[in-house]
Amino acid sequence: MADTKQAIVQGVDALTLNGKVDSDSVETAADAQAQEATTTDDVVDPWNVTSTNDAGVDYDKLIKRFGSSKIDDELIARFEKVSGKPAHHFIRRGIFFSHRDLHTILTLREQGKPFYLYTGRGPSAGSLHMGHLIPFAMTKWLQETFDVPLVIQLTDDEKALWKDLKVEEAIKLARENAKDIVAMGFDVNKTFIFNNLEFMGKCPAMYQNVIRIQKCVTFNQVKGIFGFGDSDIIGKIGFPAAQAAPALSSTFPFIFGNKKMHCLIPCAIDQDPYFRMTRDVAPRLGFPKCALIHSTFFPALQGAKTKMSASDQNSAVFLTDTPKQIKNKINKYAFSGGRTTVEEHRALGGIPDIDVAYQLLKFFLEDDEKLEEVRVAYSKGEMLTGEIKKLAIETCTPIVEQHQAARKLITDEVLDKYFEIRPLTFGS
Ligand code: TYM
Ligand code: TRP
Repeated sequence: MADTKQAIVQGVDALTLNGKVDSDSVETAADAQAQEATTTDDVVDPWNVTSTNDAGVDYDKLIKRFGSSKIDDELIARFEKVSGKPAHHFIRRGIFFSHRDLHTILTLREQGKPFYLYTGRGPSAGSLHMGHLIPFAMTKWLQETFDVPLVIQLTDDEKALWKDLKVEEAIKLARENAKDIVAMGFDVNKTFIFNNLEFMGKCPAMYQNVIRIQKCVTFNQVKGIFGFGDSDIIGKIGFPAAQAAPALSSTFPFIFGNKKMHCLIPCAIDQDPYFRMTRDVAPRLGFPKCALIHSTFFPALQGAKTKMSASDQNSAVFLTDTPKQIKNKINKYAFSGGRTTVEEHRALGGIPDIDVAYQLLKFFLEDDEKLEEVRVAYSKGEMLTGEIKKLAIETCTPIVEQHQAARKLITDEVLDKYFEIRPLTFGS
């Protein structure tokens, strides 16, 4: 721990998983997790998010362990001053709660200097779920607010390596997922979408950066960061460089020429290990460190002990679900913070922090006053579980329906435009 602290104090990103400094003693994922369990019950990495607490992961502790910084009121005020508009409700409500170097991005903005946005998706299933809307909705808002170019990486290579998926199937899923992403309304003139399994062969600059990054990171380091072990396939060990490369602007010479641009990455905090590695490597290759803003996880319907996940059908509201499925899923599975009987509920009140219907509203109900009314009424027992679930259903259903209508309009031609290798337009 002392080493971690020292690394943070020195402003160096420790190459660690869950804040533990890389060491030869970290042999396998199992070892890493066992060590983890002795210090905290929360597990957060790119593959697992679990907590023993009904309210979910302790995010303040996570900030300390990861060595990131909290998005506090002062930063939000600065953000609003620089952007000239109120912060998005995800920021105001602490859903995007942590960052690395966001001040640097705001300073660039004040100086009228450009930066770009980078985010991504690992196409593990044909459809996205509502939790995936969070980083993409944030990204879209940032793109509109700052008028900046955006690159979106689909890591079909990652999913082919980690899942029981053929390369051909992973490529297909990437395209299907891209339709969901495009349906969110990204400006085609400012947005480039690519899937690694096809793009890398068309863009030598990306593969060259992957190799440059791979030259900078040892097996011991990726073991420490990701918990890889001796029996993991070599593809996994090399993959992190493919997720790191888009954070170097020279991966996209057709967009940025040879400019060394800063980049800002919106993602949920499970992706941070990749970018801790990236931030360590970038300066050694002559590039600025990527900045990040991290979101909390949208909980599984069963409760905040795990995140909503595409690999568990019943844990998630999918963007392909029908209104009837949404209603049934929320009524049947959404973990309730209410009491066992109406009498008890009226007397003691519900607990919004662990109530998944309330959490759905916190993420997706934009009206601050209405949300506060619900919180107060539910906490006092004036509002019952059935009522809060009904409101959650009424809030989510139109979002999913609108999404489906928008997705229908995404033909292959529309999609191809986003994938075309071309310059993007950007303001500053
Ligand atoms: P993936 O496909 O698992 O998730 C895509 C994005 O969604 C976030 N996310 C969630 N956010 C809130 N609540 C949830 N329940 C939830 N589940 C997933 C993820 O953190 C991520 O931001 N390897 C990445 C793909 C990738 C990437 C990137 C992501 C490549 N480059 C750069 C972010 C930034 C992946 O498989 O994400
Ligand atoms: N590694 C992520 C996953 O398995 C997918 C991903 C690729 C991603 N690039 C990204 C997520 C950039 C966030 C930002 O879920």
